[in-house]
Amino acid sequence: MEALLNGGLPVASSCSGDGVCAKCRVQIVEGSENLSSENETEAFLRESKGVPQGTRISCQVQVLGDVTVDTTYW
Ligand code: FES
Repeated sequence: MEALLNGGLPVASSCSGDGVCAKCRVQIVEGSENLSSENETEAFLRESKGVPQGTRISCQVQVLGDVTVDTTYW
């Protein structure tokens, strides 16, 4: 989420990155191997909010290399 915002891209959120809303989800187009593993917060949100596989909760992920993402509102 921070990397996207620093790049000037809008990221949906109603919890400001506290890992509550799941609105910051982004679809991973390429480079999923360059993202940190799913943490407990993201796993909980995936289950409770119905976040599909291939989509990550951006405020809970660290970017470790090149990644291409997309959202429905860009
Ligand atoms: S901004 Fe709310 S869960 Fe990521």
